[in-house]
Amino acid sequence: MSYRHLTTRRDGAVERLTLNRPDVRNAFNEHVIAELTDWAAETRAAAARHDIRAVVIAGAGKVFCAGADVTWMSKTVHYTEEENLRDAMAMSRMFAAINELPVAVIGRIQGAALGGGAGLAAVCDIVVADEAALFGFTETKLGILPAVISPFALAKIGPSSARRYFLTGERFDTATALRIGLVHEVAGDLDEAIERVVGELLLAGPQAARWAKRLVRERPDGPETARWIAERRTSEEGQEGLRAFLEKRPPGWRS
Ligand code: COA
Repeated sequence: MSYRHLTTRRDGAVERLTLNRPDVRNAFNEHVIAELTDWAAETRAAAARHDIRAVVIAGAGKVFCAGADVTWMSKTVHYTEEENLRDAMAMSRMFAAINELPVAVIGRIQGAALGGGAGLAAVCDIVVADEAALFGFTETKLGILPAVISPFALAKIGPSSARRYFLTGERFDTATALRIGLVHEVAGDLDEAIERVVGELLLAGPQAARWAKRLVRERPDGPETARWIAERRTSEEGQEGLRAFLEKRPPGWRS
């Protein structure tokens, strides 16, 4: 599928997505939301066929993503209540679709990730940012709310940090984003750092990595975790990984 506001590239088992509206710092309006939702569905289907094992989300230009498009949001005053709700639901579905991708999603953050841009960082499994990036759940500064992104942001930074940063809408630096868990790594060379993370992901068992992602999202209870490990260690991939270690050779999925 081709997109107007996104560029995509398949690079072996890695799907690379770039938000491509640099003139407005990759802010997303209803068209970008529709495209991102379609892209997530397409990527999910490719993951189901086992074509991909990792996704990298980046933004074109000097800023990763300035969040929801303020021009678009200001126009919603002319929408009916039903239209307004439908519009917001579409945004919620977009974040959920990215959040639920079965393979690892890596965020490449340069410049800024504000509002919905910080929300996008929150739905990434691994976030690498440059030292000078700015973050913020800035919605209250605009008189609105980080509502749609809140389930994802809360799951990432926890209620204590959310209480401060959701309420104030203040902007904060990469060091703070790292401290509160929105960012995992600060890098001088973003591409180099991301390729290293991708390399680590590709060394892991392909099925094991997917199950590990489910572990975090579904939070199975004690007996269920026992079922999961019992299933995995007797699986073909689990057996191959365990045998390879004992035989001091790389597992088959690496060759
Ligand atoms: N929605 C719509 N347009 C936006 C936008 C947004 N969220 N963020 C930036 N833009 C537009 C600006 O209006 C400007 O348009 P213009 O060239 O027609 O004047 C253009 O993008 C460049 O923005 P500018 O502020 O000059 O770029 P910058 O590189 O100096 O700063 C940001 C980048 C991201 C720090 C800054 O644009 C910003 O703070 N944006 C608002 C972020 C925000 O609060 N988002 C939450 C929305 S809920």
